Amino acid sequence: MKKLEQVREQKKQKDVVILAHYYADGDVQAAADYVGDSYALARKATQVEQKNILFCGVSFMGESAKLLNPDKNVYMAEPTADCPMAHMADLEKIARVRAEYPDVAVVCYVNSTAEIKAASDVCVTSSNAVRIVKRLENQKIYFIPDQHLARFVARQVPEKHFIFHDGFCPLHAQISKKDIVSAREKHPGLPVLTHPECPQEVLDCSDFVGSTAEIIAYAAESEEKEFLIATETGVFYELERQNPGKTFYPVKECQICPDMKKNTIDQVLKVLESIGSDHEPEQVILPEKIMEDARKPLEEMLRLAK
Ligand code: 13P
Ligand code: SF4
Repeated sequence: MKKLEQVREQKKQKDVVILAHYYADGDVQAAADYVGDSYALARKATQVEQKNILFCGVSFMGESAKLLNPDKNVYMAEPTADCPMAHMADLEKIARVRAEYPDVAVVCYVNSTAEIKAASDVCVTSSNAVRIVKRLENQKIYFIPDQHLARFVARQVPEKHFIFHDGFCPLHAQISKKDIVSAREKHPGLPVLTHPECPQEVLDCSDFVGSTAEIIAYAAESEEKEFLIATETGVFYELERQNPGKTFYPVKECQICPDMKKNTIDQVLKVLESIGSDHEPEQVILPEKIMEDARKPLEEMLRLAK
């Protein structure tokens, strides 16, 4: 039996829904029930009926699914898949900023551990950050951990005062203006679509900046036939699936998140087969206090993003 069929059979038997991020490999996306960006997946996790969620992404995404669904069993296709940026915020610095500015709102990019979320006021993703920051009553915003997304948001909300942290995504932060210039030399005239985790010099010379889902929507609606893409290349699977007549090029080699790529179809199958067996796979489990405190900023995100 083909792996995809085995996955389908196991899912049905074990009452599992598979959620996958656009950065996972194409065959993993093909096996998933829902594929989305971080925001869509967090929302979808609150709507599924199955008792078990199998997440193909990195650990902060599985944690968000668990925080929003305490009664469901959440499994990671690969429990070691982690986002380095999720560990870049700092609890002590949050406490220091709160002491110095009692009226600050701590705005936490979802790419953060549950522990960091628990110390924050509201979560955001790259697709809702501007809307949410505008809606907050606070004038002072401490935006953690991504400095590049923070600056992208700050420029669109100039009426608020931002305090920045120094976090970054190792993949997006290494894309430079020079890469865009040489990609344009190779492919003159193509629009450049960029994720806001890239440095400002890259955003400044891009034609469109948006979250993974926004890049996909932009490419689908555009009349252009070819595009340069400045984000993880897992997104090419959905871009090509939705746009058979269009061509997409990365702006540089190696736009690959090694942790996202740990999600393989073999891992998915292995976890599915282990559910309910003698080798029950590890579940996403968080301490009770963190569950309680980290759920609030996530729920606040879902409320404010509507
Ligand atoms: P999205 O919010 O676009 O899903 O991005 C998640 C991510 O990890 C980007 O590196
Ligand atoms: Fe984290 Fe960057 Fe990978 Fe996204 S692409 S999961 S931000 S390391």
